[in-house]
Amino acid sequence: MHNAKRTKVIYPGTFDPLTNGHLDLIARTAKIVDELLVAVLRNSDKSEKGPALFTYLEREQMLREATAEIPNVSVTTFDGLMVEFARTQGARAILRGIRAVSDYEYELQMAMMNRKLAPEIETLFMIPGERYTYVSSRLVKGAFELGGDVSTMVPPNVMERLKRKSLGKSS
Ligand SMILES: Nc1ncnc2c1ncn2[C@@H]1O[C@H](COP(=O)(O)OP(=O)(O)OP(=O)(O)O)[C@@H](O)[C@H]1O
Ligand SMILES: [Mg+2]
Repeated sequence: MHNAKRTKVIYPGTFDPLTNGHLDLIARTAKIVDELLVAVLRNSDKSEKGPALFTYLEREQMLREATAEIPNVSVTTFDGLMVEFARTQGARAILRGIRAVSDYEYELQMAMMNRKLAPEIETLFMIPGERYTYVSSRLVKGAFELGGDVSTMVPPNVMERLKRKSLGKSS
């Protein structure tokens, strides 16, 4: 049976910064859904990971630039309860990525909690391309700060911003 309803999926995350792993997931998902809304969490010092490297506006901007060519992908920011935001956006599902077993436990727990809070919204798990299974924002930041070449792990616009940040720091 043909379903005339448009399928809108939300991809929440910190994206501090956006990596090629995130972009891989975005590209794969954009191919199979009508609309993909990438939602940047506006967490700041409240985060358990400590303060973000990039402001949420910078993180949103980098995502906008990197997804500009994909017509059914849009970018926004949010705060507060994610499933509530997903509801207000009319999303049918939440996109999350699983790199390794280490992601699974946390993601499963969160998916179950979200299902409890919003039973009508499903969680969709995507597996990245093999070459991105080790890429995370945290590791990219760590390697870059120690002088590592992360240019194959992030899009060019993120690479530029990382360089500008580090110039700003050392001068
Ligand atoms: N390389 C990747 N492959 C598949 N999924 C990914 C990848 N990087 C992130 N994700 C998924 O994207 C979602 C949002 O992730 P998040 O913004 O926390 O990025 P992250 O790279 O995990 O950052 P951090 O290292 O700060 O936790 C999560 O579901 C995460 O598992
Ligand atoms: Mg993470």
